[in-house]
Amino acid sequence: MRNIPLIDLKAQYNSIRDEINKVTIDVLSSSQYIIGEKVKSFEKEFSEYLNVKNSISVGNGTDGLVIALKSLGIGEGDEVITSTFTFFATAESISSVGAVPVFVDVKKDTFNIDPDKIKEKITSKTKAIMPVHVFGQPADMDKINAISEKHNLYVIEDACQAIGADYKGRKIGTLGDIAVFSFFPTKNLGCAGDGGMIVTNNDNLATICKALRTHGSGSNGKEAYNLLNNNIDEFLEEDNSIDNTVYNPLKYYNYLVGHNSRLDEIQAAILRVKLKSLDKWNNLRCEHVQFYNESLKYTEFITPFKEEYVKHVYHMYILQSERRADVVSYLRDKGIATGIYYPVPLHLQKVYEELGYTLGDMPNSEYLSERTFAIPVYPELEYEQKKYIVDMLKLLK
Ligand SMILES: Cc1ncc(COP(=O)(O)O)c(C=O)c1O
Repeated sequence: MRNIPLIDLKAQYNSIRDEINKVTIDVLSSSQYIIGEKVKSFEKEFSEYLNVKNSISVGNGTDGLVIALKSLGIGEGDEVITSTFTFFATAESISSVGAVPVFVDVKKDTFNIDPDKIKEKITSKTKAIMPVHVFGQPADMDKINAISEKHNLYVIEDACQAIGADYKGRKIGTLGDIAVFSFFPTKNLGCAGDGGMIVTNNDNLATICKALRTHGSGSNGKEAYNLLNNNIDEFLEEDNSIDNTVYNPLKYYNYLVGHNSRLDEIQAAILRVKLKSLDKWNNLRCEHVQFYNESLKYTEFITPFKEEYVKHVYHMYILQSERRADVVSYLRDKGIATGIYYPVPLHLQKVYEELGYTLGDMPNSEYLSERTFAIPVYPELEYEQKKYIVDMLKLLK
């Protein structure tokens, strides 16, 4: 029987095995494991790829969102507007800094936050909008930025699922005040563990993020403290007599309560190799999508909609069915893996019960959560595999 996984990380590894093995061993031999040359080079290459001034690598995308929110001074008593049809980490990051996620329904076609429904959610406590470029398709950033400008709000792009996508010719991640990517292994650019990246054109935010990823210490911590407190405080005289030939003593001067959230050298080395293939891999995803869209045109399945002015990178290829449970179990019997994204919109999650949302509040997300499912669209998918998938879908009675 066939066995087609939703994502085939082994196939990807096999295609670049020698280079990955080599750079991994290089790091092990160097015994430099955290924020060394590989991380610095990767941050630089990532900035060049996106055409953004600052890239600050972190331990994972969730931490990246938390740190980005903190860098903007968002915390207790603040509200952040976001999509209800996304992975939990989006809202979790907002809750983690003590702010309240305010959910907005998505558009039924793009699955992205509906900008026309944002305005009614803005209050005096609103500090930011966090759009998610869900499944790899950019959110409607022009409309979102126009609202944020009018109401003086920050825009934090949750770009975790959409590396390489662009919106009207501009790469996502460069369209708001600050953006965050995830390198979770299954992402379009994934590492061999957890990893993430914050990007921003704002140097001050970059300094604060750098401080927050390493315990709020050192010269970044000092500068970040000044930026967050309007240079009001006198500092302890740093002890310049300490011998810093072995360890940088500034490391033990702390200015902010931060995090320990850094990208390992091994992950950076692997990501540097993979970044070179990212565009090729994203284009292969798009080719699969073209095949699926054509092949499934006259079937019962609703294929994904793409706005004309975006480059969608299809982190997931999402179909809709009126009888999803039957389809998913039928495909499982045929050896085809699927995924359900997302079975429960965030406003209906148990953890957010106290926010008082009820069924019916976000009709589009609730509708989608009962119908959407993902089929394999990973770059290494072979013609016979995708042909088999559509043949099986067409044979379904
Ligand atoms: C939309 C979205 N936001 C945030 C995250 C969090 O990223 P990570 O898993 O790297 O913490 C993810 C990925 O898992 C995601 O898909």
